[in-house]
Amino acid sequence: MTVLVTGGAGYIGAHTVRALRDSGKKVVVLDTLERGNREAVIDAELIIGDVADQSLVAKICRENGISSVIHFAAYKAVGESMVEPEKYWSNNVAATEKMLDVLTDQRVDKFVFSSSAAVYGTPSSTPVTENDPTNPESVYAETKLAVEKLLGSLSQNTGHRLRSVSLRYFNAAGASKDNKIGEDWSSSQNLVPRVMRALLEKDFKLEIFGDDYPTPDGTCVRDYIHVEDLADAHARALDYLDSGGETLVCNIGTGSGTSVMQLIDLAEKIAGQKVPYRIAGRRAGDPVSVFADVSLAEKKLGWKATRELSAIIESAYNWHRTHPNGYRRKN
Ligand SMILES: NC(=O)c1ccc[n+]([C@@H]2O[C@H](COP(=O)([O-])OP(=O)(O)OC[C@H]3O[C@@H](n4cnc5c(N)ncnc54)[C@H](O)[C@@H]3O)[C@@H](O)[C@H]2O)c1
Repeated sequence: MTVLVTGGAGYIGAHTVRALRDSGKKVVVLDTLERGNREAVIDAELIIGDVADQSLVAKICRENGISSVIHFAAYKAVGESMVEPEKYWSNNVAATEKMLDVLTDQRVDKFVFSSSAAVYGTPSSTPVTENDPTNPESVYAETKLAVEKLLGSLSQNTGHRLRSVSLRYFNAAGASKDNKIGEDWSSSQNLVPRVMRALLEKDFKLEIFGDDYPTPDGTCVRDYIHVEDLADAHARALDYLDSGGETLVCNIGTGSGTSVMQLIDLAEKIAGQKVPYRIAGRRAGDPVSVFADVSLAEKKLGWKATRELSAIIESAYNWHRTHPNGYRRKN
């Protein structure tokens, strides 16, 4: 029983592959390496290729006895998705459909999907629950919702039924505790790597988009989840499907919100130096406050985040300090 992890050479995929290997599971990774790193795949076979390559996916399933798939492979940059929408529909949706066709033929019946809290858009209230309306505000978010819907249909199939868990991640951040894997800041627009860059790279300018929001310090509030907690959530989702669980859509966050300024304050304490930044105007489409209701994950998957925000910042700082060029270690 081997798990196929697509996009397993990427940021979250690599941490998940490690968590699965640590729990004794056999894992095969399929990744184009377009946005991932060979060095990130620790202790698992890496096959370089595209999830849209149907004969390759069929061969991997046959040769490895694949029974379940965790599907990370996708593009994730919201801004890029607005400039090159066809690229996102093609890679995030059409390529996934092609792979799902093969998985159906190969009788694979368990699937864990990387969805995103972006499907909610600007929530009307917080914490956000899975029953709140979805309102994608970017092509990226549309593609995530489209795959969730496709998976919903496949779980109703009268022929071969694919059961799935779509995990709606909030803001993944941090690096592995042992400093072996982490995020490449050159390929991320997220706040934590940008704060780290401002601390560690002389000429990097951190911009804070808006300080006049109706929050205690005026900056936006988000739910930051440690990437190792996120990795554990995937292992729990697989256990849930293995024990017969039905198709599920589930938030994966911590349940508490942190403002941009709170995060910067903590980073300054941990690094022992000031974070240089400038206040820029609000960014179109940025919700004021987004954090998760996590009760469904606890109830259905028996999963709860266990790592504090300080562990996120400490691990990220440690990683970026020693790996300013991604996987190329600082000499
Ligand atoms: N990072 C976050 O905060 C976040 C939040 C919500 C959802 N997600 C989703 O989680 C998943 C993983 O995110 P990440 O941060 O690890 O991204 P990432 O870019 O680091 O990893 C994605 C990996 O998929 C690979 N890939 C892309 N298209 C492929 C294809 N067609 N075939 C094979 N490999 C392909 C890339 O080379 C890369 O290694 C993505 O689907 C993303 O949309 C991420």
